[in-house]
Amino acid sequence: MMKAKNIKTVFDLTKAENRVEDFLYIMSDKRYGLAIKNEDEVKKIAETFFELINMEPVKTLINELKKKDYYTYIHVVDTFILGTLFSNHLNLPNQLAYVKGCLMHDIGKLNIPSDFLQFNGPLKKKQFEEVKLHTLAGEDLLNTFINTMEVAFLARDHHERLDGSGYPHGVTEENLTLEAKALMIIDVYSAMTLDRPYRAALSSVEALTFLLESENQFDQKCVKKFLEMLHIFPVNSTVRLSNKQLARVVHVPSSQPYLPDVEILETEAIVKLREEVLAIESFY
Ligand SMILES: [Fe+2]
Ligand SMILES: [Fe+2]
Repeated sequence: MMKAKNIKTVFDLTKAENRVEDFLYIMSDKRYGLAIKNEDEVKKIAETFFELINMEPVKTLINELKKKDYYTYIHVVDTFILGTLFSNHLNLPNQLAYVKGCLMHDIGKLNIPSDFLQFNGPLKKKQFEEVKLHTLAGEDLLNTFINTMEVAFLARDHHERLDGSGYPHGVTEENLTLEAKALMIIDVYSAMTLDRPYRAALSSVEALTFLLESENQFDQKCVKKFLEMLHIFPVNSTVRLSNKQLARVVHVPSSQPYLPDVEILETEAIVKLREEVLAIESFY
């Protein structure tokens, strides 16, 4: 359906007409797995987005980011969508402030030279040190312009890691909020699964496997909640099916990653999941 649309044009989101239709198209992407329940949910997400994006100073800042680095613009809209779905799934308090923070988390990139952001290859150490500063620049910008809501820490903390290997401050697990830990996961998932100028997108399963394997860096409880929300489970995950049987994922089809082939543990039978017959209930 509608696959002829150019993703870059769809993400433009500035035309007055077809705004909800654009969101329906964007959110039909298999990267969102089964996180979206129905069309009404998409409409609500679109409404929130346009409400935020039409208010100053968000409007000016996001438009500047779009002009400066279109890939980062796509990524922040995607982060906003994933943040809306995930904050709902985690039942976080202050969800409107949270999704605003998700949309604005990379706004500090406005202070980074364009050629570093669009560089087609590995950055030199000095350039990377400069790119890292987008976290602190974002914190400053948000403290200055959006002082009514506590969102600046999301810009500051989204590249931190639980083991202290992140930046800008190298803080560890106990100094990071659940909100920041959730955004760290969303941010990496979004960045890995979207096309970038310097590399093609990785699959959802590849990104999720990376998050599961980086257990010292990402909150694993939160990662599992994220998998549960998307309903995408890498090979070898053990899952409980809706008929209560335990099964092991043996193959994840790239066209419908949320409907894997599984081996029923009790009978060793291989079953291709069909939405109508069986559904994964949870992840163990
Ligand atoms: Fe960032
Ligand atoms: Fe980001």
